[in-house]
Amino acid sequence: MKVRSIRGFHDILPEDIGRWHHIEELAKNLFELYGYSEIRIPALEFTEVFARGLGTSSDIVEKEMYTFTDRDGSSLTLRPEGTAGVVRAYIENSMYTKTPQSKLYYTGMMFRHERPQKGRYRGFYQIGAELFGADAPESDAELIAMNHNFFGSIGLSGSVTLELSSLGDGECKPAYKSMLTDYFNGHKDRLCEDCQRRLGTNPLRILDCKQKTCIEISKDAPKMLDNLCESCTEHFGRVKDSLDSIGVPYEINPKIVRGLDYYTRTVFEFTTDQLGAQNAVAAGGRYDGLVKELGGPETPAVGFAMGIERIVLLHQQVVPEGFGRRVDIYIAYLGDEARNAAFSLAHELRSAGARVGADYGGKSLKSQMKRADKSGARYTIIIGEDELSRGVVKLRDMEKSSEDEIALDLKSQP
Ligand code: HAM
Repeated sequence: MKVRSIRGFHDILPEDIGRWHHIEELAKNLFELYGYSEIRIPALEFTEVFARGLGTSSDIVEKEMYTFTDRDGSSLTLRPEGTAGVVRAYIENSMYTKTPQSKLYYTGMMFRHERPQKGRYRGFYQIGAELFGADAPESDAELIAMNHNFFGSIGLSGSVTLELSSLGDGECKPAYKSMLTDYFNGHKDRLCEDCQRRLGTNPLRILDCKQKTCIEISKDAPKMLDNLCESCTEHFGRVKDSLDSIGVPYEINPKIVRGLDYYTRTVFEFTTDQLGAQNAVAAGGRYDGLVKELGGPETPAVGFAMGIERIVLLHQQVVPEGFGRRVDIYIAYLGDEARNAAFSLAHELRSAGARVGADYGGKSLKSQMKRADKSGARYTIIIGEDELSRGVVKLRDMEKSSEDEIALDLKSQP
């Protein structure tokens, strides 16, 4: 029997990797433009990093983590997201003593035991950015603008919508939660089993429930945005004003609750209507309490993460062609002497930085030309015995299907 991959995990094949590289490079270059530096953190952490960080009532901690007991009895978890691990690294490396603000980005595989479907995997890649030590609303706006500019830079600004809300702070969020608890208690019998439980753990999650009656009941529930305290109202107002001032469009969506418990104040999602149910391509927000929660000093923070698979799927729809090229020049030859010349020329061209394809299997010129075509090469150099003796080669432009003879004395080469 053939071996196979785990459900929800997938390979990224060579024919697709060009697009992945393109997207990742653009993100990295853009983040660095804003002063962010890459941090690499382990894929495996002590379970408490996520349990305390993400909140025990979040769906991820409740039922989606890949957790196992190590040989020494400690509980370890494969990271379901990047923020908690970056916060752990920020604290452990005392980054707060080095600079007043830390701007970090990361990319890597995340693991969640979710029900797989289009755009939703159990092993998936994120690119994320986290800013520590900044509490000004302009910092939220700048980070959101960076995310917005990323979508612009890959040609997707017309395909995504920025949705924005605020979840309040340590003052108004708990007050709102108890208001919600009171409201939902009045409808308890009609709530689904999960939501009846959420009523006691985190009533905010009920607003996110996909069950029909829960959606109906949620319609008349009090809204966080109507119940922000004065300072959160001012903070949110300045986030919106800053985005307005640089022309970043957004829609207010008071229903954003986010699946992780650490958020305070600003929350946002970039959504698309072109991917079906899994419509969030990036999401994030402020999490002013998390550094302290994980044992560090009180530190305001804000960040986001993008799902690379979903961005790739969207990008394929909008820009279908142009990412398959793995080779610049293919070298085809006819005869033994020409093969030796092809071998040396390939070496020389690669030393000069060109991506060169050639194989030395003695196939017919016709089949070599087929391979050249498949490789996506822009040009093919054809070396024949006759050309070799005349000190020329044929240069074929694969896009224009035209051929020229150019002088190239391969015989005199060592
Ligand atoms: P999240 O909303 O859980 O937030 O994930 C961020 C993005 O990762 C989603 O918008 C989506 O594009 C992608 N994603 C999530 N789950 C899956 C999945 N199962 N398959 C494919 N893609 C997925 C976070 O992870 C936070 N750490 C974001 C953040 C950073 N907040 C502050 N800083």
